[in-house]
Amino acid sequence: MSETKDTLSITDNRTGETYEVEITDETIKAMDLRQIKVNEDDFGMMTYDPAYTNTASCRSSITYIDGEAGVLQHRGYSIEDLCEKSTYLEVAYLLVFGELPTAPQLERWVYDVTHHTFIHEDIKGFLSDFRHDAHPMGILLGAVGAMSTFYPDAKDIDNDEERYMAAIRMIAKIPTLAAFAYRHSLGLPYVYPDNDLSYAGNFLGMMRKMTEAKYEPDPRLEKALDVLFILHADHEQNCSTSAVRSVGSSQVDPYSAVAAGVAALYGPLHGGANEAVLKMLRRIETTDNIPDFLEGVKKREEKLMGFGHRVYKNYDPRARIIKSHVDEVLEATADSPLLDIASELEKRALDDEFFTSRKLYPNVDFYSGLIYEALNIPADMFTVIFAIPRTSGWVAQWMEMNLDSEQKIARPRQIYTGERDREYVKIGEREGPEKITGPPARRPVKALRGA
Ligand code: ACO
Repeated sequence: MSETKDTLSITDNRTGETYEVEITDETIKAMDLRQIKVNEDDFGMMTYDPAYTNTASCRSSITYIDGEAGVLQHRGYSIEDLCEKSTYLEVAYLLVFGELPTAPQLERWVYDVTHHTFIHEDIKGFLSDFRHDAHPMGILLGAVGAMSTFYPDAKDIDNDEERYMAAIRMIAKIPTLAAFAYRHSLGLPYVYPDNDLSYAGNFLGMMRKMTEAKYEPDPRLEKALDVLFILHADHEQNCSTSAVRSVGSSQVDPYSAVAAGVAALYGPLHGGANEAVLKMLRRIETTDNIPDFLEGVKKREEKLMGFGHRVYKNYDPRARIIKSHVDEVLEATADSPLLDIASELEKRALDDEFFTSRKLYPNVDFYSGLIYEALNIPADMFTVIFAIPRTSGWVAQWMEMNLDSEQKIARPRQIYTGERDREYVKIGEREGPEKITGPPARRPVKALRGA
């Protein structure tokens, strides 16, 4: 029997040469392929991987996902344990520092976050200058980017204290910015943070408080929102997280890097599926219409929104956890006819060979929209609420990237497909139509996100 080695042998059939490259962690280094050349002047072999579907861009010890088994862990702790036994702020600490906090560490962390929830009055000023109907995610994007101008010391990214303060400020202020963006869109006065409330309770207060002297959150809603925050805190190298890492790799300040994450999350392929689930449930209207709807899905006339995931080929563990909180939230608010439709739809789909054979199971968004709707939160705000907890994941990933000696400025390669060495034509001698014919036609969007 031949001896096994952790290497890969590659034969280049153009030259007959064989190369041996090392396998580490079941990957090969793309740069090891550069030695594969037809002749000395050749640039060397590259890999082509649009959308990075099979490229690891970093080493990370923050989040582990086993999509086949439906496992999600942060720093080694299961998402189920974290949702049941921790608060969101504890999980945020875990993501950023790598360990669950001790009691005094948690006390300090919660104190620091709670005492940085106020935003500078000038930020409040420019929030008011957005149009009355501005999308709250657009407002949040601008506000997070603008924070870099309020805290210019954050540019000193090698300074531990500055990195800590940036983490605290972002995690603390993003709910305030989100709630202010929401109040602005309704033309309501801003509600300042209340330091007596929990992280989730304070956010609910800033959104919902009207004339009462003190806002008292319903503990069931506060708990459900805190669990939703934990569930959305991090999900390894998704589109927005890799945007944060990519922009952060230029050594820009962390506020600007996180603003890139907000921008990526704004896109409907990343942060918008739960809204699509609600629209779908409303369209189905009654449980009687479910069989027809599912027939439409099988004929490819429809998509069962909230089902399927790029990584999870099993029940998304986050969906199971959210589901267990839906009843509690509806008990505290009002019954939702959409829940009956959702439950029946899920039951039937999980019983149907079309879905089981394709490993299509409910994902986190199948139920999260129902909770937000029960909380009376408009659909425009769903992605903004996603951004609140994801900020701790972005911050943790940004910190990890900064300390990783293997990282440098992100700079992918390309395969150039354009013309070369053309002869320059003077303006009067150029041929072509008189009108600008418009940009090249856009490809249809094939799939909705996979974050
Ligand atoms: N409804 C019906 N059919 C589906 C669905 C769905 N929701 N999702 C996948 N399929 C089918 C595909 O048509 C394909 O069938 P085929 O093999 O016969 O052609 C097969 O299942 C495999 O699907 P892919 O598109 O290859 O799966 P991919 O990993 O690319 O897509 C995605 C994953 C984008 C999440 C997809 O399942 C989807 O669009 N789901 C609905 C949108 C959604 O809920 N997104 C939220 C994801 S969770 C999150 O991001 C937090």
